[in-house]
Amino acid sequence: MMTGAKITAATIRNMKARGEKIPSLTAYDFPMTRLVDEAGIPLILVGDSLGMVVLGYPDTTPVTMPEMEHHVRAAARAKPRGLLAADLPYHSYQTIESAVANATSLVESGAEAVKAEGGREILSQVSAIIDSGIPFLGHLGMLPQRVLEEGGYHVKGKSAHEHHALVEDAQALAEAGAFAVVLELVAPQVAKELTERLPIPTIGIGSGPYCDGQILVTPDLLGMLPWYSLKHVKPRLNAAEQMRVVVEEWKASVVDSVKRS
Ligand code: KIV
Repeated sequence: MMTGAKITAATIRNMKARGEKIPSLTAYDFPMTRLVDEAGIPLILVGDSLGMVVLGYPDTTPVTMPEMEHHVRAAARAKPRGLLAADLPYHSYQTIESAVANATSLVESGAEAVKAEGGREILSQVSAIIDSGIPFLGHLGMLPQRVLEEGGYHVKGKSAHEHHALVEDAQALAEAGAFAVVLELVAPQVAKELTERLPIPTIGIGSGPYCDGQILVTPDLLGMLPWYSLKHVKPRLNAAEQMRVVVEEWKASVVDSVKRS
């Protein structure tokens, strides 16, 4: 457990006012949460990206509430100093009742805030979650839970229509009481404009350098998934290759010791 005052949703929100950048990462289990927390990451997300980077699904849409709860419980056992947020998975917040019930279940599993994808179309669910006392993190731009409907991962905000919609959605989330908003694959100039206009922090992923914070899927940062390459992240470590080498060396040492005996 990291020492120092516990980081809350209010702390994250106030970092913008203090001009502090907000480096954020995902984590899905006890060791990864403990490691990123010990590195001083203030916002840790149990993202539904776990569907792809841990569970082997092709996208995030098959992720279920029991899967999210299982990983949130594991991450929460690290008792991070950083704020532990968790994703509401696909189809878990279609109504006000399901949104509040599922957000409450994630909090009972150990999450300290929840995130859901969308803007004005989910505003009544967002308001109900916040009214129930659960801090809410928004997510606009490319919404991975809509990847099948949209036929891929595309940059948002290039057309006047998308630009206008992003501004309206972001303002609506901020007015509803979201403490921050993730901007995924938003055209950098639009992300810059949102960062300047919003009273709450913007946390970018693939949205250029002008956001108040940046978030990455930790296995992408560490190079744990050599089978995929992403435009917005250059791995800082080749963990997959290092693991392969260590495993092969260890395997050879076992085989050799058997031959020698
Ligand atoms: O699921 C996730 O990990 C996310 C981040 C990419 C923001 O939503």
